[in-house]
Amino acid sequence: MAGSVKLLIRNTFFRVESLGDRLCGPELNPFHQLGALGWFFSWIVLGTGLYLFIPFETSVGGAWASVEYITVHQWWLGGIVRSLHRYGSDCMVAVMVIHLLREFAMDRYHGARWFAWITGVPLIWLILASGVTGYWLVWDELAQYLGVGTAEWLDWLGIFGQSIARNFLTRGSLTDRFFTLLIFIHIAVPLFLLFGMWIHILRVNHPAMTPPRKMRLWTTAMLLGLSLVFPAKSHPPADLGRASDVLNPDWFYMALYPAFDTWGPAVAWALALGLTAVIAIVPWVGRRRRAAAAVVQLSECSGCGHCAADCPFGAVVMRPRMDGLAHEKQAVMQPDLCTGCGICVGSCPSSTPFRKSKPLISGIELESLPVEALRDRVLAAAAPLTGPARLLVLGCDHGVDLKRFETPSVAALSLPCTGMLPPSFLDFILSRTGATGVVVTGCRGGECHHRLGPQWTDARIAAAREPHLPKRTDRDRLRVVWAAPTDPDPIAAAIAQLSEVKS
Ligand code: HEM
Repeated sequence: MAGSVKLLIRNTFFRVESLGDRLCGPELNPFHQLGALGWFFSWIVLGTGLYLFIPFETSVGGAWASVEYITVHQWWLGGIVRSLHRYGSDCMVAVMVIHLLREFAMDRYHGARWFAWITGVPLIWLILASGVTGYWLVWDELAQYLGVGTAEWLDWLGIFGQSIARNFLTRGSLTDRFFTLLIFIHIAVPLFLLFGMWIHILRVNHPAMTPPRKMRLWTTAMLLGLSLVFPAKSHPPADLGRASDVLNPDWFYMALYPAFDTWGPAVAWALALGLTAVIAIVPWVGRRRRAAAAVVQLSECSGCGHCAADCPFGAVVMRPRMDGLAHEKQAVMQPDLCTGCGICVGSCPSSTPFRKSKPLISGIELESLPVEALRDRVLAAAAPLTGPARLLVLGCDHGVDLKRFETPSVAALSLPCTGMLPPSFLDFILSRTGATGVVVTGCRGGECHHRLGPQWTDARIAAAREPHLPKRTDRDRLRVVWAAPTDPDPIAAAIAQLSEVKS
């Protein structure tokens, strides 16, 4: 049941993302850049927050008026900055929720990824706390509703000594001192959030923290447009002498408050903590067998460092040589961080099928598919191919199921990740196996299950990243197609094209 819900969410993501690719092109598709967009919005919120702090009056009596002043009289600058601050914060929540759902649906939280997942959980609370305390500062009726509600919610825990809600009892009970504390919290919590975001990506190698320039421009333009058309406004000023009834809440931040109103603090706590606990234990529920970590074969390792540079999870580190060979460094695998994608194998200069050594051993190997076994599988797949066009399709276990393309003249091989394929194998296939063409495929750009497979493969083929595809390789007989598992058509088209070349 849970598995089919997950599959449904995953396929929905694939379809919506395909639509996004068609509508705005992969470069502007926000689904490929959710984490990076989270960072981008956080810079917008931080920058605009710093500006808003300048005209802000840090007192109960002056807060509302100072915000109202910039909203109405300085709408062209302060008002826009206020709106950017609000919409940027809303976007952070939206992006975070979609990012969380997507990582879950794509199964990217198991094994070594538990760290990114578990460090993501506090970010949910920190973002919500940053937003709610921000709304307090305006000190309008919505702030009053939030202040009273949050105080009663916290008081229920009974751990704060004196009641916090007593600060909101009567017209004179909220002091400037307490208000200053609120401001301090609204500055401190986002700083903790930034620190938490930095920890969150500590174990991610080459994290995508900045969306492409075009996306940054479009996103900023969208926020500016929204700020001009629907400027952020305040409710009437807070009045602790009476309760306000007509409120226009920001659902991105206040979705839990109606639960609190309806069922009281105990249920609201149970709901909030229960949901957090459910999210937190996800990596340890229904755990599958972890893929064996790659193994460094020191006798073949020249200490070049390509594997350490290419590993998406920082599982390989370079250390001073210990075995007496005349190389300065050696690769050292940290098995706990390895997801078994094999991208390090694809980056190793010694992973070449042309080598005569027997057995053929690479500087770094996957136990489940050593380089020698990969060469044997390539040869075995190509040998029975018949017809004028004999094609090999090489893809990954997370992309389109390649079996559907198999015919007497098309053979398919699936790897843990396409990034595992050393480029010399493409040259080998085209020059030594009798195949007339090769299609390389795998997860669509920005969606690689192992993060960097397509990116490194493209770069190696374009000779922009070591190891390069040899110059002599006939590129006309090679097609590279990245596709979502729900979208086999581009691969079929590439096969059809290569079949035409030779028929
Ligand atoms: C402020 C909110 C967040 C921001 C800005 C953020 C940002 C990022 C970034 C930049 C990455 C690296 C993406 C890449 O380069 O592939 C990442 C990865 C990840 N995030 Fe978040 N994240 C946030 C919240 C969360 C939450 C709430 C969760 C789940 C509880 C989560 C789970 C993950 C996981 C599992 C990965 C690792 C993905 C992988 O290994 O491929 N994140 N995040």
